[in-house]
Amino acid sequence: MEKKALLYEGKAKRIYTTEDPGLLIAAYKDDATAFNGLKKGQIANKGILNNKISAFFFTLLAQAGVDSHFVKLLSDREMLVKKVEIIRVEVVVRNYAAGSLVERLGLEEGPPLSRPVLEFYYKNDALGDPLINEDHIAVLNLATPAQVGIMADQALTINEILTRHLQTRNLLLVDYKLEFGLHQGNVLLADEISPDTCRFWEATTGEKLDKDRFRRDLGGVEEAYQEIYRRLTGGEN
Ligand code: TMP
Repeated sequence: MEKKALLYEGKAKRIYTTEDPGLLIAAYKDDATAFNGLKKGQIANKGILNNKISAFFFTLLAQAGVDSHFVKLLSDREMLVKKVEIIRVEVVVRNYAAGSLVERLGLEEGPPLSRPVLEFYYKNDALGDPLINEDHIAVLNLATPAQVGIMADQALTINEILTRHLQTRNLLLVDYKLEFGLHQGNVLLADEISPDTCRFWEATTGEKLDKDRFRRDLGGVEEAYQEIYRRLTGGEN
């Protein structure tokens, strides 16, 4: 499958059309941003690692009965995906206190939460992706209540599948962001699942193995992404 026209360029990926109107190619870049684009940089080989890590997670989820837009890997940096109309709601699930939750609620970073916390954010760069609730989603016409219900159910199912798998690799799934799209009228998991969109902590040492290393200038960013890939697959990239 060949790339045709550039359909869309995001912060971390370019999306191309193909000769099949139902299929797109997602090409993963090394560009990294944080704080709504305020901080910019590059993480060597991130595009390759996130492409392969996302493919790994989408395959794991498919085996557990959760479909996504992922069709197959095409190359180091490219995957073939089903065309979806992205729902402009980011779905975040949190298992440990970290990130913006800690800031918003005045918590200490680190402890497990007594239950998973589900949040919705309005996918709108100009507004800085504000936290929203189901009423906001309804009045903004971002999704129907039924679609919100499906996204919430899938996000929590995905939480169980990923948490269980990562445990076997001695990794904690701290939190993560999912995006969904509409495909032939149905809600379908889309975008990526990678160290850009998840927080992973080493279970024994608590070491951060995700984009927080870039956000907070902790160093060893590429090595952290490599380590996630290595633990998931046992392979070289
Ligand atoms: P947060 O703690 O900054 O709200 O982030 C929660 C999770 O969502 C974390 O795993 C990182 C991910 N995330 C994204 O994928 N994109 C974003 O724009 C933001 C703010 C967070």
